[in-house]
Amino acid sequence: MVRADKLIASNTALSRKDAAKLIRSGQVLSDGIPVTSPDQKLSETALLCINGRTVAAKKFVYLMMNKPSGLLSVSRAPTDRTVTDLLTPELKKRELFPAGRLDRDTTGFVLLTDDGVFAHNILAPKKHIPKTYEVRLDTPVTDEMARGFAEGTVLADGSPCAPSVLIPDETDPFSCEVVLTQGMYHQIKRMFGVYGAGVVTLHRSVMGNLRLDPALAPGEYRELTEEELQAVSGR
Ligand code: URA
Repeated sequence: MVRADKLIASNTALSRKDAAKLIRSGQVLSDGIPVTSPDQKLSETALLCINGRTVAAKKFVYLMMNKPSGLLSVSRAPTDRTVTDLLTPELKKRELFPAGRLDRDTTGFVLLTDDGVFAHNILAPKKHIPKTYEVRLDTPVTDEMARGFAEGTVLADGSPCAPSVLIPDETDPFSCEVVLTQGMYHQIKRMFGVYGAGVVTLHRSVMGNLRLDPALAPGEYRELTEEELQAVSGR
């Protein structure tokens, strides 16, 4: 949250003094509601209307969400619940979409944004941005799986996967981490399927160099800082 006069000044050519004058004369709306005082705290993602002109306070929004199981990671679906159903009404207005999909039963790190160029860049196959998944299987993890992943698994339909890293869990023989640099449909489930193993739970914990904030409970989200945005891109 930020002071109304400051928010206006940082998103328009107006000075804070001019912004304060407009606020006092009742010419500023935030998400359709009149702003009454320059020191009123507004969300950095508010849609401002100044003297009849709409200004999106922030050009783009970037959210880190801990996706719960059971939701689709798309913007909208005719009947199913999606990750955008968890957003505030104010954020819903911004037409955010998830940068990359997780299966309905997969949990963890989903990045929601309205910045199409950013999303395209972090998903572009040639950027090889790594994503880490915590996996629990219905059979123990084997050396054969780790070797096969490192070499590049060939899926049942003949599709070759790029080499990936499998890190066994030291305490639980059924669990491991997998680091992928590509995102094929159901990729992890299909990779383990080659070895006759079923995935029981799947959780994305890292995108690029950014780990999902452990303070976020399933269904919670928060905005990314500038540094975190860089880290998602692997910088
Ligand atoms: N691989 C899968 O199989 N599912 C996901 O949701 C992500 C990666």
